[in-house]
Amino acid sequence: MKLLPLLALCATSVSGLLFDSLDHPPQGAKVYSALDKAELHRIGAHHPGHLDRRTVTIRSSHNDTDDISADFLWGIRRANHGGRLLLKRGEKYVIGRKLDLTFLDNVEVQLDGELKFTDDVPYWQANHFYYDFQKSITFWRWGGRDIRIFGKGVLNGNGQRWYNEFAGQEILDPDNTYYRPILFLSENATRLSVEGITELNSPCWTNFFINSKDISFDNVYINAFSTNVSAEPKNTDGFDSLNVDGLSVTNTRIDIGDDCFSPKPNTSNIFVQNLWCNNTHGVSMGSIGQYPGVLDIIEHAYIENVTLLNGQNGARLKAWAGEGVGYGRINNITYKNIHVENTDNPIVLDQCYFNIPTKECASFPSQVNVTNIVFENIYGSSSGKEGDVVADLVCSPNAVCNGIELKDIDLVTPDGEEGVIVCDGIQGGIGIDCVESSSA
Ligand SMILES: *[C@@H]1O[C@H](CO)[C@@H](O)[C@H](O)[C@H]1NC(C)=O
Ligand SMILES: *[C@@H]1O[C@H](CO)[C@@H](O)[C@H](O)[C@H]1NC(C)=O
Ligand SMILES: *[C@@H]1O[C@H](CO)[C@@H](O)[C@H](O)[C@H]1NC(C)=O
Ligand SMILES: *[C@@H]1O[C@H](CO)[C@@H](O)[C@H](O)[C@H]1NC(C)=O
Ligand SMILES: *[C@@H]1O[C@H](CO)[C@@H](O)[C@H](O)[C@H]1NC(C)=O
Ligand SMILES: *[C@@H]1O[C@H](CO)[C@@H](O)[C@H](O)[C@H]1NC(C)=O
Ligand SMILES: *[C@@H]1O[C@H](CO)[C@@H](O)[C@H](O)[C@H]1NC(C)=O
Ligand SMILES: *[C@@H]1O[C@H](CO)[C@@H](O)[C@H](O)[C@H]1NC(C)=O
Repeated sequence: MKLLPLLALCATSVSGLLFDSLDHPPQGAKVYSALDKAELHRIGAHHPGHLDRRTVTIRSSHNDTDDISADFLWGIRRANHGGRLLLKRGEKYVIGRKLDLTFLDNVEVQLDGELKFTDDVPYWQANHFYYDFQKSITFWRWGGRDIRIFGKGVLNGNGQRWYNEFAGQEILDPDNTYYRPILFLSENATRLSVEGITELNSPCWTNFFINSKDISFDNVYINAFSTNVSAEPKNTDGFDSLNVDGLSVTNTRIDIGDDCFSPKPNTSNIFVQNLWCNNTHGVSMGSIGQYPGVLDIIEHAYIENVTLLNGQNGARLKAWAGEGVGYGRINNITYKNIHVENTDNPIVLDQCYFNIPTKECASFPSQVNVTNIVFENIYGSSSGKEGDVVADLVCSPNAVCNGIELKDIDLVTPDGEEGVIVCDGIQGGIGIDCVESSSA
């Protein structure tokens, strides 16, 4: 009986070539049948949450410069259409070349080992995928449909050299030319899920989804840290998005020095539950309204059970103002059961982004409407950095802010005093007592 076509037995070496033929595995690669239960168990490909599949393995790296990107590309192509690429526990897989993975269709990647990018800055600054939106670049891009990444492994951006070399510069400085790659990026992806993994030390944003639909992250840990006190990680946002419908982040822990979760233009149907953020700039709708003449929308978001510690902001809405910005709306957003501690601004509506002087903001106010927003059961303490103010909601005179409701707010200053809530220019009030920013 010849039930199992053991492709593993015909492994041949084509090392040094781009592994064009799917029938000829590169050195060290193997393909296992979905029916070969014993082998799948032995190699660690049997996963309780996922049905067994045809499984592909590739050789791992010997050191941090041993680039296996061609093997990885062969492996994911071989696993495409119903199979799985397994990256084994205890093994390291180094990616040193940019990869276009936008051809995927029904594929799984079981990441139990470590996928690590080289820190060859000159190479990556000359070879990447580029997006005009905030001049973003990335090592690789993932697209297609029905893509599942899961496991207990690590996606490592190897950011230290990038942190060292970027120190002192600003991403939004128009003269900045030191572009840093995003760790994980999807473009034109439909039904992409990521589960269980750790994302470590991204050089820039950690996740960015573009023109994608139904993206979900569950049980992921995101961390960025530096071993150099004079070069902290910067702009390592947890989650950003552009033109995305359906974005879910659940049971996730994020410890990074920038936005924890911050969908950007044209993101709708957002669901966040059981999120923990340490040292971040908070959970933010936006910024939007950045580019002249461009309409940006964020709507239909439900954000529940978030803990925010030691950060700049808790629950935030942000839109650009100034000369030559865009317009749009942030609509139908619920923040519920949000716990903040030692946070500068627990609740914020900021329509004078980014860092523009009050005068310029007044002359060129934001044209982003903010409507139908609920902040419910927001509790904990501020850091005291803004004095007694714990909520700061300032609507732009050019835009509409209505249907903004705060309820069950229990936010105190570090000394345990009841916090002050500032509200300017919001039509119909906010449902609770608040003061104008100009008041004493
Ligand atoms: C890294 O591993 C590759 C492949 O085995 C080898 O050719 C190279 O010399 C190694 N580099 C270092 C720095 O050890
Ligand atoms: C730490 O970062 C600073 C600022 O860029 C840099 O001058 C210094 O060389 C870095 N230290 C190490 C050990 O890389
Ligand atoms: C994504 O889809 C758009 C519209 O169909 C297309 O223009 C673009 O080239 C696609 N991007 C990639 C990376 O395939
Ligand atoms: C809220 O989220 C935390 C993780 O930050 C989790 O431990 C806790 O169980 C969640 N609470 C509920 C009621 O689900
Ligand atoms: C949160 O960040 C602080 C530094 O601001 C750190 O001391 C603490 O260990 C972190 N908490 C956890 C649970 O990692
Ligand atoms: C958002 O979508 C609108 C169409 O609804 C489009 O005109 C605009 O360019 C998009 N914004 C961005 C930043 O892509
Ligand atoms: C508001 O958003 C929620 C999702 O959070 C959605 O279920 C609801 O239908 C939206 N309401 C309106 C009026 O669109
Ligand atoms: C903002 O509100 C104004 C007044 O209701 C409305 O005319 C405009 O269309 C709204 N803008 C968007 C992008 O929804």
